[in-house]
Amino acid sequence: MRGIGTPACGVPLFLFMSFPSIRVFDSRDVAVRELACEVSELIRGRAAQGRLVVLGLATGNTPLPFYQELIRLHRHEGLSFANVVTFNLDEYLGLAREHPETYWSFMHRHLFDHIDVPASHIHLPSGTLPEAAIPAHCAEYEASIHDAGGLDFQLLGIGGTGHIGFNEPGSPKDSRTRCVQLDEITRRDAAPAFGGLEWVPTRAITMGCGTILAARRIALLAWGTKKASILRAALTGPITEQVSASFLQEHPNTAFYLDRSAASALEARRETCQVS
Ligand code: F6R
Repeated sequence: MRGIGTPACGVPLFLFMSFPSIRVFDSRDVAVRELACEVSELIRGRAAQGRLVVLGLATGNTPLPFYQELIRLHRHEGLSFANVVTFNLDEYLGLAREHPETYWSFMHRHLFDHIDVPASHIHLPSGTLPEAAIPAHCAEYEASIHDAGGLDFQLLGIGGTGHIGFNEPGSPKDSRTRCVQLDEITRRDAAPAFGGLEWVPTRAITMGCGTILAARRIALLAWGTKKASILRAALTGPITEQVSASFLQEHPNTAFYLDRSAASALEARRETCQVS
């Protein structure tokens, strides 16, 4: 049994398991403040040593309050991102880069345009390449992460299929950055933002499960009852390619940051998750 250290800020309710740690907060605002505090200490610590820090970033609704908190830290608490290198998890295939629903647009709109991360430090898979160029691009993406020193920290959300990144059911644990077909559940979840299912891309480029699991620290965020049952499958079900988030059960340094609603199906299972 592994305990969790005292948080640097905030007083969340903890759940204890071997791996990973599950941290349940009264609100998502408190959760993201806690996580942003950890990430800002990482960034400042590296800056003090004159070193870069490599962050893996996610898109979607879940990380929005976290990005707002990073922007607040930048504007009001002097947090600089000058020594930060970023790699995003994924990108849709087949949309022009400036399309409002690309992850390139999302990241600029919600984070990059508001902080001082150098443009040359920002990496997202390209969704606009000709078919024949995609495998080499995916290999280059992996090589860039490796050359940057690997992911110090990876931020994740969880999809309705249990995906991390766009690693849909059937994604091998050792998979690497590649082109994938999006699950119908994932496409349906994205349909409102696109104004209808017919506009949602069918394919994407995603970091693989193996790429993600190589990160030295992982934080998965989830809010709301909609995520409760898939979180239960990911955390208390079998470790399986059918739920790629279940691979995190074996990662030695992963924390799940949940609000009470997202954790509701876990708290009902005291036999697997002991409430402190
Ligand atoms: C986003 C990503 C996805 C999302 C997941 C949850 O880059 O890779 O795995 O994290 O689909 O999406 P939201 O946060 O919109 O519920």
